[in-house]
Amino acid sequence: NKTSNQMLIIFGASGDLTARKLIPALFNLYKDDHLPEKFVVLGVSRSDLTDVSFRKKVVTESSYLEEDLGKEEKEYVDKFADKIFYEDLGKSYDTDYTNLAHRISDLNTKYGTENNYIYYLSTPPNIYETVAKNLHKQGLTEESNGWKRFIVEKPFGYDLKSARELNNALHQYFKENQIYRIDHYLGKETVQNLLVTRFANSIFEPLWNRNYIHHIEITNAESVGVEKRGGYYDKSGALRDMFQNHLLQIVSLVAMEPPIGDEAEEIRNEKVKALKSLRIMKDHKTIHDHTIRGQYLAAEINGEKVKGYREEEGVDPDSTTETYAAIKFFVDNWRWKDVPFYVRTAKRMPTKVTEIVIHFKSTHHQIFTDSAGITNKDNQLIIRIQPDEGILIKFGVKVPGQGFKVERTNLDFYYSSLSDTNLMTAYERLLLDAMQGDATLYARADEVEAAWEFVDPILDYWQNGEDVVTYGYSAGVWGPKNADELIDGLYMWRNPGEH
Ligand code: BG6
Repeated sequence: NKTSNQMLIIFGASGDLTARKLIPALFNLYKDDHLPEKFVVLGVSRSDLTDVSFRKKVVTESSYLEEDLGKEEKEYVDKFADKIFYEDLGKSYDTDYTNLAHRISDLNTKYGTENNYIYYLSTPPNIYETVAKNLHKQGLTEESNGWKRFIVEKPFGYDLKSARELNNALHQYFKENQIYRIDHYLGKETVQNLLVTRFANSIFEPLWNRNYIHHIEITNAESVGVEKRGGYYDKSGALRDMFQNHLLQIVSLVAMEPPIGDEAEEIRNEKVKALKSLRIMKDHKTIHDHTIRGQYLAAEINGEKVKGYREEEGVDPDSTTETYAAIKFFVDNWRWKDVPFYVRTAKRMPTKVTEIVIHFKSTHHQIFTDSAGITNKDNQLIIRIQPDEGILIKFGVKVPGQGFKVERTNLDFYYSSLSDTNLMTAYERLLLDAMQGDATLYARADEVEAAWEFVDPILDYWQNGEDVVTYGYSAGVWGPKNADELIDGLYMWRNPGEH
């Protein structure tokens, strides 16, 4: 794909994300020769900075960049920094953008960026509409002369109502195909590989349905707590922070029908259909029985004292916000009718891992057992999203020797053994896609709304229900014990590393 000459205008540029993620991603794209010949970054925010001090802040003094630099690479840094500029907006984002418009126009003329602009909103979401409105006033959303794209970070809405309002507000100023909603999980190589695993192999897809799959399990665990984001997190919780976006995106890729092609709309149409098929849990009893929420408690991990959630900075000492969420749900369509999906996400787990486990049904007629006399060991396909990216298949083999005892064994593929080429980070991949106008890995308005539609009743019950419980779990364990009861039958959560 060709990347046309363009300018990237970052709002909220003095914030953490620019130095931590965006500039390092751009730098790597530059080093690997992915940036167009004519390319300029304009940082915009309310801080009193100049081109020089901004460059210093995000490039030359950025530890995120320095850390990874070899000697040769340092040579690039100065050249790269020359492409970066800064514009101070003054006191508020809701201001007259005439000066900004002039600055953009001057840089455009001087550096030949052909009126192609990407606006990257690295600001709190309550500013998105304001920025869009003020850009629009200056004619800076117009595409008659060069394209204009608008990238927004999560959270996209706080619930269904606010997500709809935000979509409607942005649609006053930008067309849907100009808006790129980032979900950094879609930038992960292994999340994209879900599509390839399913639709480029003939050995999985024929079995990928209710006839052969018993249930699906997805675990997203982090070993860290809320770190410095207590203030934000306490108003959000695991369901909003991880489940509504990243995990439902993964669910949509696992559950979707085969798309007719690999164009953005072809893939996104199928993802929306899957999300719209989620069985919405309408009454409190169903939600009560199908969800578990928990909150981590203080503990000692490897001799180190770890704070409980309520002691974290920025968190209300009486908070009931969940740092653990486990949900059982169904996808009501021809393919998945009555196949349970179990999804859990949490902070302060024993390890950082994200994986999908496809549990196949056992053979109909079982003639062999393992040495303990057990017959019901299922086949599993485990897709490791992170770390140790790869695919693991668990299947039965004969124990060597007399008789026909079966033992489950592993066929294990690691991405790292494929090649030694550096995988692009999620931000590199997503930025480059937006620069090329490819929205496949960005969430569309209707996807986001369909995800909220499923999540909204759960949030409502968790907030207003009378019998809601937030279970405590010690930091460093696999969540509250009660979550084990969510899974039907003899099955248990697969705790990676344990079995
Ligand atoms: C973010 C959440 O979207 O994803 C964080 O806001 C979380 O709370 C992070 O830590 C996890 O991302 P990753 O890529 O480290 O799994």
